[in-house]
Amino acid sequence: MPTTASLVPTLALGLALAMPAMAEDDPRTLVDLPPDIRDGFLAEMRGHMDTLDDLVTAIAEGDFADAARIADLRLDFGHRMWEAMADAGMPPEQIAAMKARMKAMGMGSGRGMRMTPEQQQRTHDQMMRRMEPGMGRGMGMGRGMGFGRYMPPEFRRMGFAMHEAGQRLTATLKAAATPPSADDFRTVLGSLAEVTLACRGCHSAFRVR
Ligand code: HEC
Repeated sequence: MPTTASLVPTLALGLALAMPAMAEDDPRTLVDLPPDIRDGFLAEMRGHMDTLDDLVTAIAEGDFADAARIADLRLDFGHRMWEAMADAGMPPEQIAAMKARMKAMGMGSGRGMRMTPEQQQRTHDQMMRRMEPGMGRGMGMGRGMGFGRYMPPEFRRMGFAMHEAGQRLTATLKAAATPPSADDFRTVLGSLAEVTLACRGCHSAFRVR
């Protein structure tokens, strides 16, 4: 027979497990952000959710060209800039030329990358500051309020991993046949899973306040 004394901790444990995780025992690293930055950050996250939904829809329709356009614009490094430029009516060729220039500066990823994530963040923030006010939306774009500088290095690395996965997805989509074969669908879904794995990885490691 268990004694009352031995039951109490058991009950307490049961209760603790039944309750939603409390902030105190949340294992995720807390990133403290000023309220307006946090609002912009969460809005960007909801934008990522939209991107994912648009990607899955385009892929399901077998429209890999549209999916590649979405991934290239909205998941690549500097996506906020490219999106703002597209919104401002800049033609795709001009955006592609800007991207090529950024790559030449050593920004981006892979073997050609010459800047550390930290250096890239600084360059990125500087470019955002130089952008015309009103061109960007949310995030304090054009006002020098990018959230990157508030983020710990590991967080940025995970953000980079997502952009890299986005670039691989764009490449996979572009390499597929038209219309895509069953194998193309499998390969593309594998690449898409790398993107969602990056979302998942960061969400399990960080939270904001
Ligand atoms: C580098 C880190 C990181 C990556 C990568 C990332 N997120 Fe997030 N996301 C966060 C953090 C941190 C939060 C806030 C979570 C919290 O405080 O509980 C968040 C919150 C969200 C929210 C909730 C927004 C709100 O209004 O509350 C959505 C939706 C979201 N992310 C979608 C995505 C999707 C989709 C992807 C991948 C395409 C993604 N995120 C990639 C870090 C990341």
